[in-house]
Amino acid sequence: MAIDYQKEGKIAIFTINRPEALNAMNVQAARELHEAMVDFRDDPELWVGIITGAGDRAFCAGADIKDMLPFLKEHLQSSPWAMPATPMRGLDLWKPLIAAINGLTMGGGLEIALACDLRIASEKARFGCPEVTLGLIPGWGATQRLPRIVPWCKAAELLLTGKPIDAQEAYRIGLVNIVVPTEAVMSTAKEWAEVICQAGPLAVRAAKEAMIRGSSLTLEDGLRLENALEAYLMSTEDFTEGTTAFVEKRKPDFKGK
Ligand code: HXC
Repeated sequence: MAIDYQKEGKIAIFTINRPEALNAMNVQAARELHEAMVDFRDDPELWVGIITGAGDRAFCAGADIKDMLPFLKEHLQSSPWAMPATPMRGLDLWKPLIAAINGLTMGGGLEIALACDLRIASEKARFGCPEVTLGLIPGWGATQRLPRIVPWCKAAELLLTGKPIDAQEAYRIGLVNIVVPTEAVMSTAKEWAEVICQAGPLAVRAAKEAMIRGSSLTLEDGLRLENALEAYLMSTEDFTEGTTAFVEKRKPDFKGK
């Protein structure tokens, strides 16, 4: 399997498992990621996802240059959806995703990380968009997400030069949430996932949806969206449970209903 998909309690763990190719995404990996993500999206027992890379060198070195790029060259023009729907494009996923970035994160690998909500990076990680050195631009979202996440000039630097940056620089510009020793990447991602699992899952999803949908709306429309989502949350059992637990001075027992 190119994608190892595991469930641990409420947490889904996706491991890109092609260490011999620095976890580059071939067509098989993209199809398996799609299937695993759909299962995660639709399984009510799963609340948070973590994506990581197998081995100790790379999170993901991008699209597989020998396999994925020829496939896309053949199919992308006639079929814009040749790439299976994933969080990078085409799959509405409001459950939170954490990237556990254990090493090199290049091209499409950075785009997978950008499609996550939180990024935990190894101190050895490096990040880059080398597509222009191949005569391409990023195709899984970096031209759009990167300038929304880091300052415009840093996005331009990464996208136009193709030169990588190290983990500390990634932290400095706000590309990652935290930098930790390599051996602590997965445990930190799980700790953060557990914290999110203590909150109301419908509220977490609504917060993500409001952020993402709101980023392409006017402020007024975004505030209307926020209001609509708030009204929905107030109709849920989780809201009743969360507020009742506060009054009764106990931990809430959220059901995602
Ligand atoms: C296929 C890859 C690969 C990739 C690495 N490998 N990246 N295979 N596609 N993207 C393979 C190498 O061929 C090699 O296999 C093995 O992994 C180890 O890589 P090395 O190059 O020997 O390692 P190193 O010298 O440490 O260099 C690491 C590296 C380099 C700097 C990350 O591998 C590299 O530049 N890779 C390409 C990164 C890249 O350009 N990514 C963007 C792809 S385009 P063998 O069998 O030779 O030992 C993209 C677009 C997405 O992502 C959107 C599409 C629409």
